[in-house]
Amino acid sequence: MPNNDIPTSIVIFGASGDLTRRKLIPSLFNLFRKGRLPKRLHIVGFGGTPFEDDQFQVHLREGLDQFAPYEFKEEEWRAFAPHISYHQGHYDVKSDFEKLDADLSARESGTANRLYYLAIPPSLFPEIIGLLGETGQVREDSGWRHVVIEKPFGTDLESARALNVQIHQVLGEDQIYRIDHYLGKETVQNILMFRFANTIFEPLWNRNYIDHVQITVAEKVDVGHRAGYYDGVGVLRDMFQNHLMQLLTLVAMEPPASFDADALRNEKVKVLRAIDPITPDEVASETVRAQYCGYCETEGVAPDSITPTYAALRFVIDNWRWKGVPFYLRSGKALAEKLTQIIIQFKEPPHTMFPLPPGKQMTPDMLVLYLHPDEGIHLRFEAKVPDTVAEMRSVDMEFHYADSFGLTAIPEAYERLLLDALQGDAALFTRADEVETAWGLIDPIIHAWEQTNEPPLASYDPGTWGPPAADELLARDGRAWLYGSDEHIHKK
Ligand code: BG6
Repeated sequence: MPNNDIPTSIVIFGASGDLTRRKLIPSLFNLFRKGRLPKRLHIVGFGGTPFEDDQFQVHLREGLDQFAPYEFKEEEWRAFAPHISYHQGHYDVKSDFEKLDADLSARESGTANRLYYLAIPPSLFPEIIGLLGETGQVREDSGWRHVVIEKPFGTDLESARALNVQIHQVLGEDQIYRIDHYLGKETVQNILMFRFANTIFEPLWNRNYIDHVQITVAEKVDVGHRAGYYDGVGVLRDMFQNHLMQLLTLVAMEPPASFDADALRNEKVKVLRAIDPITPDEVASETVRAQYCGYCETEGVAPDSITPTYAALRFVIDNWRWKGVPFYLRSGKALAEKLTQIIIQFKEPPHTMFPLPPGKQMTPDMLVLYLHPDEGIHLRFEAKVPDTVAEMRSVDMEFHYADSFGLTAIPEAYERLLLDALQGDAALFTRADEVETAWGLIDPIIHAWEQTNEPPLASYDPGTWGPPAADELLARDGRAWLYGSDEHIHKK
């Protein structure tokens, strides 16, 4: 719990934007309702759009109606709203930052903590952090100063490195909170609990028992109104460099000695460094890129755009635990359903004593971590079909968050991350070396795609599971993607 006695200011740059209304304010309001925010709290929205304080509050209030995933109570809002004000300013004008500082200092009157949240386009990060530095707002001589930086952090390895250098001129690494909202998801954190708070799976969690791992982050939505941003970015930068690589590290990392931010992040970086980078020569065989039909007709997309909206990759991790175990990653827009899942497929039994019908093989056991929807974990194994001699069928042992904890127990990812940033716990934020190492794995693929035109850009119909080339990527290894459904994993 943050120190309740010290005044705390939260400054949101990009206050009139979508993220503020959709995620940040609903999360802060929910934390306030739960009594988890400092008592002497002040939230300042900073942006270019003119707003009076009360207009800004109404604007946020309307956002809550639309986006808050909980029941709204007017009296709670009336208690929360006076903590919010608005400061109109330009992101590149020093005097506007001086005014902001003066305004904050006047409200705080003395020692105070401050959290600056950069919910603005990445091109503005250096300028804003530079001006915070020039106006003395991130010096920690009377209270802490933390800065939350939204993704994308850079557009490639070079720009991420340059950005790290720029912001390190102003901020210490311990003041920087690079956000990846996937790490704020309960189900993602539960990967750590599942692996390291239990003993049953850890002895099996390696190349001796695991055949391969599949990580799927499928989205039903297409690029929609975000086309302007997305067309310059594509799926590897938007989803793989951050979210999918984070999921991979949590599945593959060694157990950290503690839940301390650096202990955890050291292990994540070690896994990323052990991944065998896909070389330009391997890009054609180890990666698939595709675009959904109709993408180029979207407003904001270049008519001849070759931006991929889908990718599938095969990574191998060169270490004792994982040598020879492929990690297949895929993500795309406009797919059949919104599904985030990690499948750990175990090896087939080395020998079967049971008679199998001709052509039928034993079905390997499987562990499925469902991150969305129907959050939970399934363990699939073989069971005897009653009233047969030796017929078998796969059955699931299931854990569902909704049943065990009640649906309301799953809060929005931003709640946890905002609270952690206020408490100075950076475990669920990405460190400079982590971001750069992840870029080092994604960058060569993007460059090879752009330079060699290999593999060719495939296409897929919206509402499907992506291009046939993605199935071929696994079929070559004698494997197949496993698709989700409400009840059970099934093959397409
Ligand atoms: C964002 C991407 O980081 O994550 C979006 O920029 C994507 O393109 C979103 O839609 C997916 O997040 P979630 O939490 O809905 O899986």
